[in-house]
Amino acid sequence: MQERFVVYRSPDGELRVFYDRCPHRFAPLSLGKCEGESLRCAYHGWVFDQDGKCVEIPSLGPDATLPPRAELRGPFAVAESHGMVFVAPESPLTPLPSLGADDDSAFVRGDLEPITTRANAGLLADNFLDMAHFAFIHTGTFGAGEATEVGNYSLEREGYAFTAVYEHDFANREDPGVAEGIRPLVQRRRLTYRYVAPYHLELALNFLDSGGTNVIGFFLVPLDNETVTIYSSIWRDDLEGSEERLRDAVDFEVAVVNEDLALQSRYHDLALPLDITCEVHVKADKTTVELRRILRDLLDAANQDV
Ligand code: FES
Ligand SMILES: [Fe+2]
Repeated sequence: MQERFVVYRSPDGELRVFYDRCPHRFAPLSLGKCEGESLRCAYHGWVFDQDGKCVEIPSLGPDATLPPRAELRGPFAVAESHGMVFVAPESPLTPLPSLGADDDSAFVRGDLEPITTRANAGLLADNFLDMAHFAFIHTGTFGAGEATEVGNYSLEREGYAFTAVYEHDFANREDPGVAEGIRPLVQRRRLTYRYVAPYHLELALNFLDSGGTNVIGFFLVPLDNETVTIYSSIWRDDLEGSEERLRDAVDFEVAVVNEDLALQSRYHDLALPLDITCEVHVKADKTTVELRRILRDLLDAANQDV
């Protein structure tokens, strides 16, 4: 069942997380307001303290005995990392993602608006890790310069995470050095994919000849099998402080994501098969096969805990 959470920050700066449901008439507590450490429900004004215990029911007047079942589910474990809030209703099996570029002052960060759409989080993770679709899907953005053949690349798994590194030739049409005759059109590029289960993804593109690194972070929150919210940010170290160029880069990334979603949102069956014998895989699919294996292992581990 889909659960919703209310998250609020108390005056000491701590985040508190509960199920977003008042025990009285199940109104969403997220419509209420913070009163110091406490949360007041918007409907009948019941007040819950930082541990979720009800401490005031206005309709009973002062000094009334409060029903013992008047308490919130929670508080749940919560962590903040890189401007995002992660909630753990149960003990997490995987670590939080670490984003090196976010801690590196050489990079500027641009956030895309969150996108909620019809798509499956597993399929979107597959799509993010896939290197063989660029020339076919991204025809309106960067795909024209991309090779269709995918060469060998390395992949190292660590727990419920992996890193894959692919170095290859590509046509760098954006490099002003090409027009100036300083560098050839065909240059070297390194793609480094980092995946942390279940849905934290990062791609660093290193332009080995012209210099510069672009990083794309992609964090998926499945709302159900057919709906997902995408949180995505980019980091650039090659924009020389230009806010306009950063805005353009974010807009470009939105266009790239929309090209992917045009296909992803139209899958008939919005599900990622975890049985790797179901689909036909080729050499280029090493990352996305590992994605399936890791999600299968994670699911097995989670089921063992039940
Ligand atoms: S529903 Fe929250 S106080 Fe009544
Ligand atoms: Fe794509």
